[in-house]
Amino acid sequence: MLDNQGRNIRYLRLSVTDRCNFRCRYCMPAEGVCKREHSEMLSFEELTEIVRTAVSLGVSKVRLTGGEPLVRRGIVDLCRSLRAINGVRELTMTTNGALLPQYAAELKQAGVDRLNISLDTLNEDKFASLTRGGSLADTLAGLDAAWNAGFRGTKLNAVLLGGVNADEIPALAQLAQDGKYEVRFIELMPIGECADWPRERFLSADAVLHALPELQRLPNEGVAELYRMPGWKGKIGLIRPMSHRFCADCDRIRVTADGRLKPCLHSAQEIPLRGLHGENLERALREGMFRKPVSHHMQSGQPSESRRGMSQIGG
Ligand code: GTP
Ligand code: 5AD
Ligand code: SF4
Repeated sequence: MLDNQGRNIRYLRLSVTDRCNFRCRYCMPAEGVCKREHSEMLSFEELTEIVRTAVSLGVSKVRLTGGEPLVRRGIVDLCRSLRAINGVRELTMTTNGALLPQYAAELKQAGVDRLNISLDTLNEDKFASLTRGGSLADTLAGLDAAWNAGFRGTKLNAVLLGGVNADEIPALAQLAQDGKYEVRFIELMPIGECADWPRERFLSADAVLHALPELQRLPNEGVAELYRMPGWKGKIGLIRPMSHRFCADCDRIRVTADGRLKPCLHSAQEIPLRGLHGENLERALREGMFRKPVSHHMQSGQPSESRRGMSQIGG
């Protein structure tokens, strides 16, 4: 359905848990998130009803996020039932990859169409520090597992972090060389944990164009600016929420793990969906979609208006 700006809302991002096996510094506090009771989380039945209703309103693409979606018990069963909903054309997942050695084959079998995997550094020590204890080897094993399970079109997401991984832009980009992955560089957004980080941590994606001057521009794909490197099979994407606001092309809404509809990643506005069924659920979804804000205001130096961090919203 169209929102009040004429944007066609087709893409639903569902956070299925706010827990994670990593605690990335830009995403989670050191102590982790305050654990919600299982009963506060949307059940699989509720998630399925939300997706079914959203599909009836025109959504055709569903992405599961977290936290880390693979730490939610029964995730494969959830994928299977969501993929079976008539009208879901694409079911995708954004994951940190560490649990893919265990799950990739099952996810493929359950009908998950595509994966996006977060990978901000190829340096083991930096990886452990950034994720507060995560192992680079696990995530790299996850990339292999995804490929071996038959996943294609996997996108690797690297958040640009000044003073942390800017020197690794060429090395990270190189993961696109043999065509197994598309590599996307994402501008850090001042939301949640990193809302008040020093300015030098926030890099424009222009840094990628400076580091790789050979990149050739392709037509945009969704919210990503797309490039190719001569001779490479995989593409390079830039996601520039800060330097090139893409809100006018945004086609997504989100639901948090505790069942609140967020019309925009950055809006303070949340519409509770828990306990709503049938017509009431449809009305709430319709209203949330319609009232999607025009844009965020982060370029003017303001932090995100969202009162929650990324691990609760799902990126
Ligand atoms: P594709 O389906 O492969 O296009 O995935 P995607 O880019 O929609 O999903 P992914 O989870 O990989 O998101 C990549 C990054 O884009 C996230 O980490 C966010 O930083 C950013 N992002 C996603 N959605 C939004 C949004 O609505 N607004 C803004 N400003 N940034 C977003
Ligand atoms: N700015 C930009 N991207 C972020 N992510 C998490 N926090 C931020 C932030 N503040 C990314 C993760 C993951 C995706 C879901 O969101 O790296 O790729
Ligand atoms: Fe976990 Fe992703 Fe947040 Fe890192 S960015 S703590 S991997 S949810």
